[in-house]
Amino acid sequence: MDLTGKTVLITGASRGIGEAAAHAFASAGANVALAARSGDAIAAIAEKIGSSAITIPCDVTRYTQVEAAVAATIAAFGRLDILINNAGVIEPISHLSSADPEGWGTAIDINLKGVFHGMRAAMPVMLKQGGGTILTVGSGAAHNPLEGWSHYCASKAGALMLTHCAHLEGADRGLRVMSLSPGTVATQMQHEIKASGVNPISQLDWSDHIPPDWPARALVWMCTAQADAHLGQEISLRDPEMRRQVGLA
Ligand SMILES: NC(=O)c1ccc[n+]([C@@H]2O[C@H](COP(=O)([O-])OP(=O)(O)OC[C@H]3O[C@@H](n4cnc5c(N)ncnc54)[C@H](OP(=O)(O)O)[C@@H]3O)[C@@H](O)[C@H]2O)c1
Repeated sequence: MDLTGKTVLITGASRGIGEAAAHAFASAGANVALAARSGDAIAAIAEKIGSSAITIPCDVTRYTQVEAAVAATIAAFGRLDILINNAGVIEPISHLSSADPEGWGTAIDINLKGVFHGMRAAMPVMLKQGGGTILTVGSGAAHNPLEGWSHYCASKAGALMLTHCAHLEGADRGLRVMSLSPGTVATQMQHEIKASGVNPISQLDWSDHIPPDWPARALVWMCTAQADAHLGQEISLRDPEMRRQVGLA
């Protein structure tokens, strides 16, 4: 999987799947722009990657910051070929009947509006270039209600619909738009889920989770023509056949 000469912008690159994706894309030869709120964390990751990485402190809830991240990526590397909408949160886990409206809304701002902001900022650039790939890290929660996760399920369902909409509007102009549902992954998010004790996901053993490197490698694979059968759709890494195709099994 050779992405030499390609440039990727990854949101939520300060840890977990985003951090693993930064390493995977750099290993595939891509220039990598790491965006997250934790400037020190992305700086440390970029230092390990070397001169093909830049860092952009960015809060995806702020459109102007996402727009500036796209501009900074283009200023550094001349183009933007791939956007990975990865930034996401699981907190605040709570029942609908007692949810804090502000916290619920913040999760929507990150998980759903953050994805819109990424698409809104990247699509004009990619359309002008003649093409590009926009991948969003989705979740099985888009399809299944889970206790205490109304904000997360609703936001991931909305983000998946954004993938369908972006595909509808951009596919005939060279945009490749897909979602990746990774299954459960051993990251900080799963520590927060475990600590909540709410719903069956919190009861899983740590050994049930896949390593963050797996979705990272799947995201790289999705940037190749091998994934073209899935344009506009969501790929699930729970599917053994999909794992085999990506080279994980
Ligand atoms: N872990 C799983 O089992 C699992 C399963 C399905 C889907 N996912 C999805 O995978 C994605 C990555 O999650 P993860 O498991 O890697 O979780 P994680 O380790 O908690 O990482 C979340 C990332 O999102 C960033 N982020 C949060 N709010 C942000 C904001 N307002 N602006 C910019 N960045 C923000 C965080 O960076 P800063 O705090 O530095 O900003 C961090 O880099 C999420 O979309 C999640 O929903 C995870």
